[in-house]
This record gives sequence, structure tokens and C-alpha cells, in this order.
Amino acid sequence: MSVINIESAKTNLETVGFLDLPVDPTMDLFQEIERIKKEKNAVILAHYYQEPDIQDVADYIGDSLGLAQRAEKTDADIIVFAGVHFMAETAKILNPTKKVLLPDLKAGCSLADSAPADLFRAFKEKHPDHLVVSYINCSAEIKALSDIICTSSNAEKIIESIPEDQPIIFAPDKNLGAYLNKKTGRNMVLWNGACMVHEIFSLEKITKLKVRHPNAKLIAHPECEDPILRIADYIGSTTQLLKYTQQDSFGEYIVATETGILHQMQLASPNKTFIPAPPDNSCACNDCPHMKLNTLEKLYLCMEYEVPELVMDENLRVAAKKPIERMLEISRAAGLIG
Ligand code: 13P
Ligand code: SF4
Repeated sequence: MSVINIESAKTNLETVGFLDLPVDPTMDLFQEIERIKKEKNAVILAHYYQEPDIQDVADYIGDSLGLAQRAEKTDADIIVFAGVHFMAETAKILNPTKKVLLPDLKAGCSLADSAPADLFRAFKEKHPDHLVVSYINCSAEIKALSDIICTSSNAEKIIESIPEDQPIIFAPDKNLGAYLNKKTGRNMVLWNGACMVHEIFSLEKITKLKVRHPNAKLIAHPECEDPILRIADYIGSTTQLLKYTQQDSFGEYIVATETGILHQMQLASPNKTFIPAPPDNSCACNDCPHMKLNTLEKLYLCMEYEVPELVMDENLRVAAKKPIERMLEISRAAGLIG
């Protein structure tokens, strides 16, 4: 058997994005991951959009707000972030003394990518009297250019905490921004960004599906486009959608968000039926290709060899932390988090 040279494998990380080493197919990865967790005092934080196997080994599964809070509070030595880059970056911003690992460094986000920092800086300069509220799905550079961060579960409360006569720029998600304008009666200037997964749902196919399933409720994430949100029975963040399906009396739901959330919905309510909302083509495009770059094998490798690690420039980290702290303060005052 050839000897694996870990150091040369590590030099490849920046181009490949993950540690590309063979994993023994007979190995019980679940057992191995549990072993490493204990040996290294590591915690696995996973977003609901991760594949079911990863959710099953995670110590905490949550939405962006819950994950940020957990990352801030953990006393583990290593945070293994099973999510996308901006989430791991947020964990590092909030808890810089911890080693933060991301199974695949290339797990990005189309929404975060839709706001390049140089273009956004120029946009902001055109609106000098505006306060900048940015959705957490953005880079650390955009966070550093923002006054307050929000997530899908606290966005409405964050906007309502700002005086009504204060003009606001909302970035980068135009769909969430338009939804918030409608809900709060504001007229925020919107950056023209969107999530590739939440823009793919077909109104026509969902309408037909509702006819075939007259007893099903449509539940949707606010990153979806307005025509989908208009016909939704309930709109919320991933955690809010999950809670809704647990507390509601209906037995059937059409779910307009990334398919990963269906795993927890089904586990929490085994007798209910969950139907992924259909995309406007024949591929499974409501699977986030970025979230799904993480696999159980990559999770195991990154924990075993402690790479790829999320590293950040300290000045950028400190600048990006301020608007996240504002968000956490407002969320605490509103009773959204403990
Ligand atoms: P939440 O985690 O706030 O529900 O947002 C979903 C999402 O798109 C994360 O990338
Ligand atoms: Fe980004 Fe959309 Fe994927 Fe979430 S689902 S990580 S917003 S591309």
C-alpha cells in the first residue's frame, strides 16, 4: 500500500478546496467522526441544507442565526462548520480563538457572490445618508461595509428597530428586501442580488401541485421570488418553517426552500408528508450546489487532518464583527435569542 503524503496533499488545498485523499470505504465514518470529536474537543455545527448523513453526526443543526449564536458561545476547541463559507467566516469573526474548519473551502454562495465589495462600496457612496443593513449571506468585506447584519429569522425586527425616517440600503438579496419592504412599509434601496436556489421555483408547477394536493400548505423561505411568496401559506427562515410544520395541524406541505430541510421535517413529524416545491426545469436545482459540496468523507478528512482551516485578516474580522454584534443585541432585546 502506498504511503500517503499529507503535507503534499495539503499544498493542493487552495486549488482543490478540500483534502483530496482516499478514504477506506469499509471505515465506519459515523464512528470515526464521533471518536475525533471527543479526542479533539470538536463541535460540528451544520446548516439544515446539509446532506442527511452530515445532519445526523452534527452536534447542532440550525439556521444562520442559530448557528452564529452557537458558534459564538461554544467552548469546544475546534468548530467544524458544515455549511458554506460565509457561515464559517461568521463563526471565526465571533469566536476568533477557535480553530474553524470547513470541509470544502469552495462551498460558497451565489447570493454572497452577487455582491462584490468594490461594486458595493461604489453603490454605498451614491447613498451617503443611508444606513446599510446586510443579510448575513455576504462576505466579510460586505459585512465590514454594513451598519447592521440580519438573517431571515430576525430581518423584520431589525428593520423595525430603525427609525422610520432613516433611509436604508438593503443588500444583497433583492427578494428578501422586497418582502421586507412590503411587510414593514419601508422603501429600502435594494441591491440586485439573489439566491440561485430560491429563484428556481416554478409558479406554474407549484400551482398545479396545489391542485393535485388540495390539503397541502405551501411554505416558503423569504429568499423566494414575490409570485411564490404571494401564494404561500407561511413564510419563514428554515428554523421557522421547521417549527411551523411541527406545530401546525395540517398533514401535508409543499416546501419552497432547499431540500435539505426535509430531513429534519420528516424526522420531527414522521406521519406528515413533505413535498419539495418543483423547480422550473427538470433538474434537482433546489439542491444548493454549494451546500452539497460538503460530504461525510470530506467532513471526516477535515476533522482528522484539521484542514481546510478558515483564516482571516484581523482588521477585517474586527470591522465585520461590529454589525453582527448589533444584530445580536437587537435580537436579544426583541427576545428572539437568549
Ligand atoms: P436561513 O438559515 O436564515 O434560513 O437562510 C437560509 C439560507 O439560504 C442559508 O444559506
Ligand atoms: Fe447561498 Fe442560496 Fe445556497 Fe443558501 S441556498 S448557500 S443563499 S446559494
